[in-house]
Order: sequence, then C-alpha cells, then structure tokens
Amino acid sequence: MPHLLTSALPYANGPLHLGHLAGAYLPADIYARYLRLMGKDVLWVCGSDEHGAAITLRAKKEGIDPKQIIDKYHELNKRSFAALGISFDYYHRTSEPLHHETSQDFFRTLDKKGDEFIVRSTEQYYDPEFKQFLADRYIKGTCPRCGYDQAYGDQCENCGSDLSPTELIDPVSVLSGAKPELRETKHWYFDLSRHEEFLRTWIQEGTIDGAQQHDPRNWKKHVIGQCMSWLNEGLQPRAITRDLDWGISVPHPEAEGKVLYVWFDAPIGYISSTKQWCLENGRDWKDYWQNPDTELIHFIGKDNIVFHCLIFPAMLRAHGDYVLPKNVPANQFLNFEGDKFSKSRGWGIELHEYVEQFEDFPNGEDALRWALIRNLPEQQDADFTWDGFTEYYDKDLADKLGNFFNRVTVLTHKYFDGAVPEPEEAGDGAQVTSRIQEAATSIGSHIEAFRFKDAATTFVELATYGNTYLQDAAPWTLAKTDPEDPRIATIIYNCNQIAAALALLAHPFVPLVSAKLRTVLQQEVATNGDWAALRDRLESGKPLLEPGHAIGKAGVLFPKIVDRKDDRLLTLIQQQRDKLTAALERRDAEQAAQPITPKTTNLPEMKPEISFDDFTKLDLRTATILSAEPIKKSNKLLHLTIDLGDQQRSVVSGIAKHFDADALAGQQVVVVTNLAPRKMAGALSEAMILMAEDGEGKLQFVAPPAGFGNGWTVR
Ligand code: MF3
Ligand code: ZN
Repeated sequence: MPHLLTSALPYANGPLHLGHLAGAYLPADIYARYLRLMGKDVLWVCGSDEHGAAITLRAKKEGIDPKQIIDKYHELNKRSFAALGISFDYYHRTSEPLHHETSQDFFRTLDKKGDEFIVRSTEQYYDPEFKQFLADRYIKGTCPRCGYDQAYGDQCENCGSDLSPTELIDPVSVLSGAKPELRETKHWYFDLSRHEEFLRTWIQEGTIDGAQQHDPRNWKKHVIGQCMSWLNEGLQPRAITRDLDWGISVPHPEAEGKVLYVWFDAPIGYISSTKQWCLENGRDWKDYWQNPDTELIHFIGKDNIVFHCLIFPAMLRAHGDYVLPKNVPANQFLNFEGDKFSKSRGWGIELHEYVEQFEDFPNGEDALRWALIRNLPEQQDADFTWDGFTEYYDKDLADKLGNFFNRVTVLTHKYFDGAVPEPEEAGDGAQVTSRIQEAATSIGSHIEAFRFKDAATTFVELATYGNTYLQDAAPWTLAKTDPEDPRIATIIYNCNQIAAALALLAHPFVPLVSAKLRTVLQQEVATNGDWAALRDRLESGKPLLEPGHAIGKAGVLFPKIVDRKDDRLLTLIQQQRDKLTAALERRDAEQAAQPITPKTTNLPEMKPEISFDDFTKLDLRTATILSAEPIKKSNKLLHLTIDLGDQQRSVVSGIAKHFDADALAGQQVVVVTNLAPRKMAGALSEAMILMAEDGEGKLQFVAPPAGFGNGWTVR
C-alpha cells in the first residue's frame, strides 16, 4: 500500500518561521521517517507555491521580476528545510513547465465535463494604461466605512471591513495610478455546490459512494468542525480564474490574458511534484494518485483546512480517477514567547536565521526539532519560548537520554571490556523486552494516529525507565560483594537492549541524535525497514544487540545548556531574548508617541446609580480566547471558545466586523461568566466578553496584562 504524504506548498515570497515548521512540516517528517523505518512505500512531496497576487504585487513594488523573488525564496526555504532534517522526497516548484501542463490538463478535463464550471460575466475594474483587468488587491481607494485612503479592493486594513472594489471611493490602479474603468470581463467558476452532498457524507461518515473510506473519528475535531460550518452555510461556485499577468494561463480560447487562481493550481502542485519525482525515479505517478490502495495524507496548518478538505477533494472527485485524502491532520498555530510571529515587529525567528545562528551548536538541528515536537500545536495553539527550548533539551536529551547512554557504555566497558555480555537464562530479560516492545508499539500507534507529542512523551518515558532500571538494579553494588555475580551481566545486557531501542526509536524525532547514539553503539545510521526489524526481533525474542557486540563510549553527548558558561549557545539565546526586549520597547515607545486622544465632548450618557450589591452579583473573570470561527449565518458574530482556567466555554460575540477570527486565538479578555446562557445564530453563548467602545463604534478588548492567568476574578 503506497503512502502518499503532502505538506502545504509554502509561498515563495518570504522566509518561513518556526510556526510554519511546527504546523505542516515537522509532524509530516516524523510520520514519513517512521513509515520508512517500517519498510513502507512512502512518497512525501512538497514544493514552492510561486503564483498569486501577493508575489506580483511585491515584485511591482520593488520594481523587479516576480522570478527574482521566487528564485530567492525557493532556494532559501528549500535549504532551511534541508538543514533542519526535513526529509521531503521531492521539493518541486509551481513555476516549472511540468506543473503548468499538469494544471492546464486538469482545467481542460473539468471544462470538458460540461457542468463543473460556470462562466460568468461581471463588470470589473480595468487599467487603461496597463491594458489589464485589476485583481482586487490591485485597486486602492478610500474606505467607505472609515475614510482610510489606502484601502484595498478586497479589504480595508484600517477598519478590517471586507470590501468589494466597486465600493471604494476614488479608486486608483496600483499599477499605473490611473483611474480604473469598469469593463465587462468573464471568469470561470468551479461549481462546488454540485459536490456539497458528496462532501458532507464523506466528511461526516467517511464514505465514498457507500464504501467506507476512513473513520471520521480519526479526524481532528477542529478540522471536521470547520468543514461542517462551511457545509452548513451551503457551498457556492468559486472563481478559479484571475486577470493577472503572473500565473498559469487559462487553457481556453476565450480566456486570453487570464490565469488560473493560485488556489486552483497550488494543490495540483502535489501531483506535479509526484510526477517529477517519479520521472527521476522510474516510477509511475498513477501508482500513487490513481491507485485505490494509496493512503493520501495532507499535512497543513489550520488556515488551509477548507482548501484541503472541501475544495481540492471536490476537484479531484470532479476529475475522477484520483484518490481522496485518508486524513488531513491540520495543526493549530504556534506563537512565539506569548505573541504572534510578526516580521514587521521583529517578533519570532525565521528558519534560516536559526540555522545560521545555531549552526555550530552541536545538535542544533535536533534541539529545535525536539523543543517544537514536545510542544506541537496539535489540538490547540501552543507557545514557543527559549526557556522551554532549554528545558526540553536539558531534561530530556541531556538528563535522560544522554545520561543513560553514558552510564550504560561506561559500565559495559568497566565490567565487560565494552562488549555486550551474555545474560543469565532465568534473568529479567523477558520483562525488559516486553517493556521495550510496549514502548515501540505505543510510539508507533501514536505516530500513526498523528499524536506526535504523545509519541515523544512515550519515547522519553522509555529513557526514564532505562535510568530507573539501572539505578534500582545497581550492578555496582553487586560487583562490590561478588564481581562474578551473573546478575551483573544480565543487567548490563538489558541496558544495552534498552539503549539500542532508544537509539533507533529516536530517529523520526531527532535523526541526528539517533545517528549519534547508534554510532556509540557501533551501528549504522537507521534506515528503511529498521523499525519493522526491531519489532520482529522483539517478537521472536532475539536481542537487539547480540552478546559479544562491541560498543563505543558515549561520554557527555549533550552538555546541559544551563550548566554552560560563556558558551556560544547561551550568548545566542541571550541575543534572541534581547531582540524581543527591543521589540517590546519599540512598541511601547510607539504607543507613547501616539497623540493623546482629544477630549471627546459627546461621550454616552452615564447610567443611573446602582448599589454595591448589584455590582458584586456580576462574576467577572480573566480568560483567554482559544479559538474563533466566523458564524456563517451572520457577518457580525464570531463563535469563540474561551479558557477559564478550570473549564472552557463557548461564547458568541458580535465582534466579527472588528477582528479577524484567525488573529484572536491567544487574546486575553475579561468576561462576565454568570449571565444566563443563550443561543445566538444557532450557537450557545455561555459568557460575555467585555469590550471598550469609542465614539466611532471601534471596539477594543479590556484585558489583563500579558501572562496573567485564566479564571481569576476581576473586581
Ligand atoms: N501557499 C499556501 C499557504 O502558504 C499553501 C498552499 S497549499 C497547496 O498558505 F495545497 F495549495 F499547495
Ligand atoms: Zn476602513
């Protein structure tokens, strides 16, 4: 059964940061490495997403060719991935001719079906000087809502309103600065509504044409939740062509000057990446994409759910012959030191920066992988901190793993000249073997179920078990009374078996550490099929390291970060911390520099006096927004989940026009918890969020200072 894995193709218009890595790449890498060790047929494809209006706009602004941008970031991202051990089988580019052909073929096939596309004419702005139609982002003007004069055709970044280009006051073309004209233009729409029923059954029941394809209980709840809220709203035809001069030409005689919408061609990039790999490796791409046995898994971040769970599956289905994903284990977002990653604010660290700065720190690649794995945003947003980075390294890699290897190798050399001894027949070997077996099976099933954090925890527990076993068995005490005690050999033999298991099981998570440990044990780097072989040996009672096998010495494999003095790594971490302090100071200075708001004369009237008792009836508490989803039936309401310390609650809040749902996770708030719950737009609201509102109706959160815990009272 072929395993086909994909990771979201990153846009080649900027560097990637740790959040990206934790979302769609590191989890997929663990999964791919594990499957390879299990001896499976695995193909993991990715590549650069090189189309889209963002890239052309940036090129126009900088006065360069889009090609210069994509070449730069394609290389940069590809190199950063490689430096962090991300083991794609192929990293393709959507600017390659093969991808253009594949996407055009796809379009033609759907077009020929006759009823998959709808062609509609609409009036759209046209730049008379550049002689081209203008995508929404290519038009600027004054926002009809707030008067901001730099609003885009699709959105005002000042007040957050969604706009359409014709709403803008005094529109101008971003390209020429000229006043655009309205002209009639034609676009192709993919009629998603035709696939709505199919998608609903597939998402809800996991069946395709009545046959069970997957068990929906194995899908993450937040993934199904997002899909269902779209489905319940009703799927609409979606435009899949754009009037742009950068992208894949629409292969239709009446579509001159038009390109495919980037989200139409990008997922097809998974197919072209597969094709290219197959060309270079003598395989047939259809054995992956058009084989009913293929297990297709899409690894993505939560912002890509709809595209991978509804739109692309509908495209594949409309085309026919293709397999659909077995699972889409989307991750939530990773924050950085308590806040969102932000390039402009200097908050975060980009992959290439990490790679450059930490390159001569031994195990640097795995230190980062490990810190991210232990804290993956699998079900909820997570937060990366340098303290956490240090702690995971010191506690897990240094104290547990490194220490165990050091003790085992020292003792093996001390008592048995560095060769694995022969154990006694009636020793506790069977118990130790079954403990190893249990760990290997459980790590494997966690990985297969996309619970990578649990898999890593179980791995650490095996190292802890090794240390405890050795400590309790205390061969050094036995040696004092009787150096010939056969129990000593058994203990050292068992410890070597645990060490061998750890060295291999580490591979999916921290491949370099695994290689290092295996070198100590004088074993080759882990390769395809090794985990399956380990499982078979354990099952048939064969040792993982045969008696007589000579091992090397470990020494201090992972010096603890906290114990280091004047170390380059400490300096680097300190530099990173200073960078954040500087970013905070800049922000504070900017805020202080804001002019004091002029006295407002028409403040709302005050309410009549109430008693102190009336006030104390209110239960006000600190909370944090965990997630926010738009409510499809309403353009005002958002459906939030908040964390109240000892419980979570569902909240419906009328802030959709003021805040972007995707930006709310992690926002601290103050809520009223004891209002009677009520239903709004079909969702239950069990608390109310306090907001400050100014004369123009602008809303702001009333929030405790950063880092303040949840569930505490406000009086
Ligand atoms: N480039 C998109 C993003 O970064 C992801 C594209 S995923 C694909 O959000 F499926 F379209 F390739
Ligand atoms: Zn506005």
